[in-house]
Amino acid sequence: MPATAAFDGQPQLPRHVAIIMDGNGRWAEQRGKLRVSGHKAGVKSVREAVTFAYKLKLDALTLFAFSSENWRRPEDEVSALMSLFIAVLGSEVRKLHRNNIRLRIIGERGAFSEHLQRKIDDAERLTAGNTGLTLNIAANYGGRWDITQAARALAEAVAAGRLVPGDITEPLLDAQLQLADLAPVDLLIRTGGEQRISNFLLWQLAYAELYFTPVLWPDFGEESFSEAVAAFVGRERRFGCTGAQIRALVADGQA
Ligand code: IPE
Ligand code: IPE
Ligand code: MG
Repeated sequence: MPATAAFDGQPQLPRHVAIIMDGNGRWAEQRGKLRVSGHKAGVKSVREAVTFAYKLKLDALTLFAFSSENWRRPEDEVSALMSLFIAVLGSEVRKLHRNNIRLRIIGERGAFSEHLQRKIDDAERLTAGNTGLTLNIAANYGGRWDITQAARALAEAVAAGRLVPGDITEPLLDAQLQLADLAPVDLLIRTGGEQRISNFLLWQLAYAELYFTPVLWPDFGEESFSEAVAAFVGRERRFGCTGAQIRALVADGQA
């Protein structure tokens, strides 16, 4: 039974929630506005989600902000998103730090401007010692990239003679992935109505509960977040066992 499986008969809150924050563009279009105003409106929902995660005492919240495929968007939208990212990092980091939140950016950061990379490094350094919520922002992130870079790191260790191929196990590959040191993702929420993963966390979602809501990201607040958590609490996680086995474990208090 994985370490995450705690079946003590009590409702289990998630420890790690990941969110695909989708629907900003449609939110703006519905109002006859430019897509970028939807992204700006989405920042408020990010603040609310972080506050709620903090109140729930989650270990980690991981937000998908920009995928490795989002570079395909029109140049003006990409550059507006980058500017917004820089502005928000500048304006929010101190507040995160005051609240003991550790900020991490996951993804291939080499593609960002030097300026943005410096801002990211500074923000991570400032908050590195914080022990409250870990907030991961996935930027230029792709699940396939994550697995590929982990495989490359192991291949380099083999080439350097530090490892033989037969030593490679799931935990060893897992240790090379982004989020390796955090609790497994328990709950994935996607807003905006699509029911797909869009190359977000692939390996890490193996046993996550999936929750899709039509609510567009700028409209996603504490109420929507708590509905998602309530749905999670109501589900029976089996990790490959039968429902009867899980109920027996709960009855025996063996979890
Ligand atoms: C999600 O909202 C934000 C990013 C991908 C940056 P979208 O911009 O994808 O919004 P829709 O899906 O077009 O409504
Ligand atoms: C996924 O949303 C990426 C983020 C929310 C950052 P997209 O809107 O880019 O995904 P697709 O293109 O609909 O799959
Ligand atoms: Mg979208």
